[in-house]
Amino acid sequence: MLKNRGRIFAVDDDELIVAMLARGLKSDGYEVNFQTTPQDIIANIIAWQPDIVFLDIDLAEEMSGLDVLAAIKKEDIDVEVIMLTADDSAESAIRAMKLGAVEYFTKPFNLDEIKIIVGNIIENIRLKAEIAYHRKNLCPYLGEGLIGESPPMVEILKKADKLVQARAETILITGESGSGKEILARYFHCRREEGESNGPFFAVNCTALPENLIEGELFGHMKGAFTDARSDKKGIFELAGSGTLLLDEIGDMRLDLQAKLLRVIEDRTIRRLGGSVDLPVEATVIVTTNKDLKVAAEQGGFRRDLFYRLHTFAIELPPLRERGHDILLLARYFLRYFSSKYLKKSIKCFSAGAEKTIMSYGWPGNVRELRNIIERCVVLEEMETITGEHLRLNLAGWTDSESSACSRIILPEEGLSLEELEKDLIRQALERTDANQTKAARLLGISYDTLRYQMKKFALL
Ligand SMILES: Nc1ncnc2c1ncn2[C@@H]1O[C@H](COP(=O)(O)OP(=O)(O)OP(=O)(O)O)[C@@H](O)[C@H]1O
Ligand SMILES: [Mg+2]
Repeated sequence: MLKNRGRIFAVDDDELIVAMLARGLKSDGYEVNFQTTPQDIIANIIAWQPDIVFLDIDLAEEMSGLDVLAAIKKEDIDVEVIMLTADDSAESAIRAMKLGAVEYFTKPFNLDEIKIIVGNIIENIRLKAEIAYHRKNLCPYLGEGLIGESPPMVEILKKADKLVQARAETILITGESGSGKEILARYFHCRREEGESNGPFFAVNCTALPENLIEGELFGHMKGAFTDARSDKKGIFELAGSGTLLLDEIGDMRLDLQAKLLRVIEDRTIRRLGGSVDLPVEATVIVTTNKDLKVAAEQGGFRRDLFYRLHTFAIELPPLRERGHDILLLARYFLRYFSSKYLKKSIKCFSAGAEKTIMSYGWPGNVRELRNIIERCVVLEEMETITGEHLRLNLAGWTDSESSACSRIILPEEGLSLEELEKDLIRQALERTDANQTKAARLLGISYDTLRYQMKKFALL
């Protein structure tokens, strides 16, 4: 049995034509349905949901195939339309194409030709669906925006939107590993997509490609440019079209390639290896690194000119530990996400102790570490509530100093009086040391003189 390759609906008052189409296409594995009268065509198409509709232009006196085509477009029905006609004048073909038909055949037609075209259209529909699926996955945060409400993240998102509006051509994103550089680059791409740009998103890790291949990968090559160049090849700059090209770990790029990259960024053209034509670069180029490029430039590991060029539009992502309440927002988001991914309905929650642990830990691996730990807890812990203990057992980098930091005071939402807190801590230290001021000063990590000064200030003497 042939696999169902697609659904085809044919509308023609000529029974011989529809019978021929149905026989030919069914034998190629398509499911075919048809009608020979003009009644309820639109309703039947909506009910049967074909991939392709064949429409006879001279369908009936009261209704032409072009009227049906116009109605299909007006109703925005997700189907491709192929027109059939006995009239071989170019005029009706042009009208049909203008109305949105994908193909046009004059009767008598060649069935083999129709089969090839139908095959191509079905392949095109499949590819479009696949691209739409990947685009959706590429921009998962468009609905709720990138997660981050802390002042530095709000500033970053504002700046990102400004850069999108200004159509910045090259953007540098720096930040520690796992801080979200790639996701911010994707955010840029998706915001541009909301506008007019419609190109792909390409991410290239500058250190993952072998040294001898990276140049050809980036700029493309002509046949014979080097020993293994057996045919012409487009580079990633070309393939990215008007989309976005992310060059990851730029800080580790070879110095000679940095020089070439600078030229590309400044001239907005590339030349394939062995080529003689300058091709325009239309993509937004986003470069990322977790290195301090300024220091690298001072030490000679990074070209100064490239650094200054990239610095024009630079965004520095703060480490997760500097994003305050965002840490919890992200943790709760990942908990919801992984609970629904792995457990479908039963959503887990954090205990108060777990939230305290999350806020006390330093997150050296940043958002990636947070995401991974929460995924692990959701999958491995059997209780409904994730506790601080669960988290600490899963945190590879958890140390006693974090443990003691865990008992630190978390700034309450409504704020607190620092003076009152200081006064209270001094009082506690004095109580615990039986008013021995030298010992109390040591407990508080301040000098004897500072303690005396503070005690005077708070009238504790
Ligand atoms: N603000 C955010 N909201 C939601 N998810 C985030 C956020 N920031 C980072 N993530 C998630 O954290 C993980 C790490 O992010 P990403 O890969 O963008 O980091 P990176 O800075 O590029 O890391 P590296 O330097 O290792 O390449 C990803 O799974 C990403 O989806
Ligand atoms: Mg990255």
